[in-house]
Amino acid sequence: MRIDVVTIFPDYFAPLTLSLIGKAQDKSLLDVAVHDLRDYTHDVHRTVDDSPYGGGAGMVMKAEPWAEALDEIIAQSNAKPTLVIPTPAGELFTQSRAESLAQTPNLIFACGRYEGIDARVVEHYRGRKDVAEVLEISLGDYVLNGGEVAVLAMIESLARLIPGVVGNPQSLVEESHGLDGLLEYPVYTKPPLWRALAVPEVLVSGNHARIATWRAEQSRLITEQRRPDLL
Ligand code: ADE
Repeated sequence: MRIDVVTIFPDYFAPLTLSLIGKAQDKSLLDVAVHDLRDYTHDVHRTVDDSPYGGGAGMVMKAEPWAEALDEIIAQSNAKPTLVIPTPAGELFTQSRAESLAQTPNLIFACGRYEGIDARVVEHYRGRKDVAEVLEISLGDYVLNGGEVAVLAMIESLARLIPGVVGNPQSLVEESHGLDGLLEYPVYTKPPLWRALAVPEVLVSGNHARIATWRAEQSRLITEQRRPDLL
């Protein structure tokens, strides 16, 4: 999978060289290229923003550098890319969205800052259905300073679904938001007694059927308490 990220803060993406995502890149399961939006400006100040039409607080990202960057990246894509624009005004990012993005050979993330990107950029690429699919996606119902942190989270959650990235694929099944859509049951390791807290007896019983039943019950209980909307 090829991922292109456009941002005015390329350094934000340094963590993608670490851990499983870094190893996935070493193994060529994933190829991440980060582009500096300012490289697509043509003035001495490398300007990427301007004041909003209609007035109001903050600045808006200019359409021209975005279009220049995106046209170049799209032209270099082997397959029709999916262009993801992180925004608090987007559709909510979910595990099923991560699963569908993990199947996409070419992803482009456009990280907005300030009050966002001139709306004509999305309008333009939405109108060019032959060259890209456009998605506006929100990480959650809160506001970040820009798209970078949201994109890091999205890349991590989708990249771990690419076959070969996570060593044991079974661990992808038995986790929160996994196949049954429930939250994960609690997990324990040694020692069996820690600060007067014992590991639940069933987990040391060696009875795998009982363990499976207990875990399913715990998943349901925790989901009921914390996220009844998932049931
Ligand atoms: N940019 C700013 N806030 C955001 C959010 N909640 N999700 C995605 N991108 C954002």
